[in-house]
Amino acid sequence: MALSTAPTAAQADAFATDVYGGLTQSPQKTLPSKYLYDAVGSALFEVITHLPEYGLTRADERLIKANAQDILARTGPVRTVVELGSGSGRKTRWVLEACARHQPCTYYPIEISATALAQCGRELSDIAGVKVLGIEREYLPGLQQITAMRQGESPMLVLFLGSTIGNFARPDAQRFLGDVRKMMRPGDALLLGTDLVKPTQTLVSAYDDALGVTAAFNLNLLVRMNRELSAGFDLKQFEHEARFNPQASAIEMHIRSRVKQSVEIPGAGLTVEFEAGDTIWTEISRKYLAPDVLAMGAQAGFTSGGQWIDEDWPFAETLLIAA
Ligand code: AVJ
Repeated sequence: MALSTAPTAAQADAFATDVYGGLTQSPQKTLPSKYLYDAVGSALFEVITHLPEYGLTRADERLIKANAQDILARTGPVRTVVELGSGSGRKTRWVLEACARHQPCTYYPIEISATALAQCGRELSDIAGVKVLGIEREYLPGLQQITAMRQGESPMLVLFLGSTIGNFARPDAQRFLGDVRKMMRPGDALLLGTDLVKPTQTLVSAYDDALGVTAAFNLNLLVRMNRELSAGFDLKQFEHEARFNPQASAIEMHIRSRVKQSVEIPGAGLTVEFEAGDTIWTEISRKYLAPDVLAMGAQAGFTSGGQWIDEDWPFAETLLIAA
């Protein structure tokens, strides 16, 4: 398969527009966290999942591996498995194997990164009884496309793993769950992975690791603006910051300017001024209490199909059944 990591004209345009919108915001400059995942960022995130400080992905995989059969017993005979964000495919294997023990099924990873889709296809294409069909779109349009062509009565299982929902502020997460629910039929299931509240120092270390991989992951946004928008960021003049915001129950990643400076971003038609200590807010990563996940699901029109919690690294898989 031919793969290009260069953005299309429309993608380049969207990035320029979002950079303009985010960096002209006052007092807090922001950038959408989805732009962290270019080829370099996706590779760095994959490294993060192996870091000793970042237990999240390992907890997610442990839970799924240990409980996949139980989960599939509760959904009934699924023929359609959709995943919002394909990731590497490592965790999903356990779900697909458990599913295909009962009947053949089709797996639709929805993902905006062609590179991630291709990797996931390679990783999962060998499972007997599972057909992989990647959808290169944003989550909701991708899900819409799949549900529009659904046939038969068997329930659909939607996977939203890895605490990706944590990247939404609370009202946005609630709205997103509602939007997903509207595209489901009663009896369909959503398996939702959420990272849980844990001691602040554990959380801060997970997002500011000793090796500096998360710092590189974050600062890569500046490299991306330099490459794609001919921006003039000098990386030495910025630093990574991870803070816990107790009100939002969230880790927030920022890129902090070490000095007063101004940076040209010709590709976005913009010059940005920074005071020393000013930041660009690049990501929110919310941490939940397990009962809150069920409450959010209930408000979006789901009943509980079960919840599984990892004891070593507090993390929950919640099975939500469309009511
Ligand atoms: C992939 C969104 C779950 O929020 O923990 C890892 C991304 N950011 N380190 C997270 C991330 C910094 C990650 N998610």
